[in-house]
Amino acid sequence: MVYSMILLVFENEPLNPNVFVRPQTTNHFCVSQSAFKTSFASVDFRAKKTVYWQLSAKMGDNNQESVKYELLDSSVKTIIHKAQAIREKAYCPYSKFAVGAALLCEDGTIVDGCNVENVSYGLTICAERAAICKAISQEQKSFKCIAICAEMEDYFVSPCGACRQVLAEFNTGMEVYLCKPNNDIVKTSVTKLLPLSFTPNWVSFST
Ligand code: THU
Repeated sequence: MVYSMILLVFENEPLNPNVFVRPQTTNHFCVSQSAFKTSFASVDFRAKKTVYWQLSAKMGDNNQESVKYELLDSSVKTIIHKAQAIREKAYCPYSKFAVGAALLCEDGTIVDGCNVENVSYGLTICAERAAICKAISQEQKSFKCIAICAEMEDYFVSPCGACRQVLAEFNTGMEVYLCKPNNDIVKTSVTKLLPLSFTPNWVSFST
């Protein structure tokens, strides 16, 4: 059986309490909490979220695959460690949600970053963008991969839309390793996270 879906579970009931599918993203099924509970009534709700995410990751669906830490290249292991370590430096007094990111540049340089929040919440800078800005100021702009580390029991935290766009500016083929402090890892890529992206190739400022 091939699974190619991600379940998005609403904490609050959406307008339509029934299961529905977003037409443009056929691999994303959105279910209400009650529909989810009805379908999987025998399992604890928190556990179910884990089961589903892991199932999706294990099956190697279109968007991500589970990878074993031990089998990764040493350079990838290093950025994972860096992302885990820099996460401790996050400035996140409002959300208390610390995130670390580390980029592996083409020449082997590693650049890390953590989220930096602001009392004007919208000014928050995510770990991924913090790392990119730091890299650019170090004259690095060719990135092979990025590791992103956060702690959310049941989920692998994935870059927000703004960060996906910023990563796509530099390399849509960039590998993305979503990791947890315990070395659970899911591998994806910028193009998988942001298909049909708007990139510098699309614009010309010469005319
Ligand atoms: N955050 C990141 O730094 N990266 C992500 O991929 C997701 C979210 C931060 C932003 C904010 O400081 C906190 O996590 C909660 O959203």
